[in-house]
Amino acid sequence: MERQDKMNLDRTKLEQELKTRWAARNLRCYDEVDSTNLEMIRLAKEGAPHGTLVVADSQSAGKGRLGRKWVSPKGTGIWMSILLRPDIAPQSASMLTLVAALAVVKGIDCETGLPVQIKWPNDVVLGGRKLCGILTEMSTEAGDIRYVVPGIGVNVNMTEFPPEVSETATSLRLELGREIEREPLIARVMEAFEGYYEKFLKTQDLAGLTEEYNRRSVNLGRQVKVLDPAGNFQGEAMGIDSQGSLLVKMADGQVRQVISGEVSVRGVYGYAL
Ligand code: BTN
Repeated sequence: MERQDKMNLDRTKLEQELKTRWAARNLRCYDEVDSTNLEMIRLAKEGAPHGTLVVADSQSAGKGRLGRKWVSPKGTGIWMSILLRPDIAPQSASMLTLVAALAVVKGIDCETGLPVQIKWPNDVVLGGRKLCGILTEMSTEAGDIRYVVPGIGVNVNMTEFPPEVSETATSLRLELGREIEREPLIARVMEAFEGYYEKFLKTQDLAGLTEEYNRRSVNLGRQVKVLDPAGNFQGEAMGIDSQGSLLVKMADGQVRQVISGEVSVRGVYGYAL
């Protein structure tokens, strides 16, 4: 990969951009961490407050879903994790990943106008390629949540990707043909997140967000392949319900509820479409 010397994130600029009440108000910026999720978990154990945001210019051990590595080169992406301490049932916490995906889509839309969409449950895609991934980690104690940490990785100014993802990944720069400033984008995502999170808390589910989520969904009305360990199947995606499950209509008219975390969903022709 070509050597890229990029400017560090500008903390002052980020602080000036942020118009939130609590999200990212306690802000930690780093040149490099192992993983922003790992750093946030360390801070959470030391008592960091709800809404704390960790942002790093690079990650030496960025974590993806399913134990994969998340490539996080210096200065080219947004690698960040937010600390949440919601008073909700632990089984509701996975919905916060969908809340974060919605916030990323709104933030990118505000800053770039690009028609980004969500591939259920929480990948942000454009033109069938992945722009952003989200990994949420949680800790509980005696049945109560101690913390939830959604970690967000956005490919912003990358111009190339490792071979294993080069067919399925893209960046904002590749799509727009110009560089994007990361600080305003982080601010827009955090502002959107704050609003969506508060809506989520009112009902402790996605009832107030399903309509917007479904409008932003790349899967809606399309055929999807559900990769279920109990047997793959195919059908038309009807959107999510208030729990964040994907409703899939089978050829015989029967609707199956697909629970996130238990299966993967693909487009019929590839990763997203
Ligand atoms: C995925 O596999 O789609 C999830 C990728 C999540 C990557 C982000 S980058 C910031 C945060 N820190 C990590 O180590 N992972 C998440």
